[in-house]
Amino acid sequence: MKKIGVMTSGGDAPGMNAAIRAVVRACKYYNVECVGIYRGYQGLIEGDFIKLDARSVSNIINRGGTILKSARSKEFMTKEGRAKAYENLKNAEIEGIVLIGGDGTFTGGMVFNEEYSFPCIGVPGTIDNDIFGTNYTIGYDTALNTVVQAIDKIRDTASSHNRLFFVEVMGRDAGFIALNAGVGAGAEEILIPEEDMGLERLLESLKRSKRSGKSSSIVVIAEGDKIGKNVFELANYVEENLKQYEVRVSVLGHMQRGGAPSCFDRVLASRLGVKAVELLLDGKSNLMVGLIDNKVETTDLELAVKGHHAINKELIRVSDMMSI
Ligand code: F6P
Repeated sequence: MKKIGVMTSGGDAPGMNAAIRAVVRACKYYNVECVGIYRGYQGLIEGDFIKLDARSVSNIINRGGTILKSARSKEFMTKEGRAKAYENLKNAEIEGIVLIGGDGTFTGGMVFNEEYSFPCIGVPGTIDNDIFGTNYTIGYDTALNTVVQAIDKIRDTASSHNRLFFVEVMGRDAGFIALNAGVGAGAEEILIPEEDMGLERLLESLKRSKRSGKSSSIVVIAEGDKIGKNVFELANYVEENLKQYEVRVSVLGHMQRGGAPSCFDRVLASRLGVKAVELLLDGKSNLMVGLIDNKVETTDLELAVKGHHAINKELIRVSDMMSI
């Protein structure tokens, strides 16, 4: 293989730049050309490419976002879109691609590989941590720290006003951010899609904590949780039925995806980016690289997307105990 492409696709995540840097520099190390593909699959369809060398990725290991930009391409979901993408890759003499993204990105890569037998290796980059075949996705650790810092600030004002706060965090259908950041920030209750707590139990628990002497409380809710229709309706319901707290809502939103990556994410991205290039050079395809028990391992893309990454029950137990 003489030329490798690299792209970031789907929701951006802190550490994606570190992963791009790792791919580019590993290519240089192995004497392979590297081409950056802008805006994920959309840039692939439009032939929006840039030649990358070791110096074009200087000073990006510490930067959030992605220098290659990102997009969610509807056109790539069509046969015609994928045909254009293939033509562009052939014309640019790119022989394999590293896909940095989440499940949507990997699904696109699998379909493309099936149609054109084009070598693709996935690198998990999403704050959601909802990918099977890795203990951590790139960006998750940074997002956890961002969320914890935000909740620490909310705690100050919650405590001053004796209020109950509902803090909604990202994670799509998964509760990893909510559960881990919730424990880290000392939340009273954590609502995640994987566990149905039920409204009555939530009210009971908040009453109990009020009785135990707490004057303010923080409930972390994953955006994918279905306990209320949405967090604002849930907050109204709790305020009316509890009658013990003034309730406020804070939706943290996209700030969770920004900021400088943590050291953990930078190291993870560097390790996975290097392995992705090595796999392509070894003639491998349709695999995702991930970190399992601190070892870089590979998983079939199909399994990475469809497999179920279990929530940590022990953490749920710890959280319950801590809210006593
Ligand atoms: O997958 C990352 C993520 O931030 C999810 O947590 C969230 O549901 C989604 O992307 C938001 O997508 P968008 O940036 O397109 O609004």
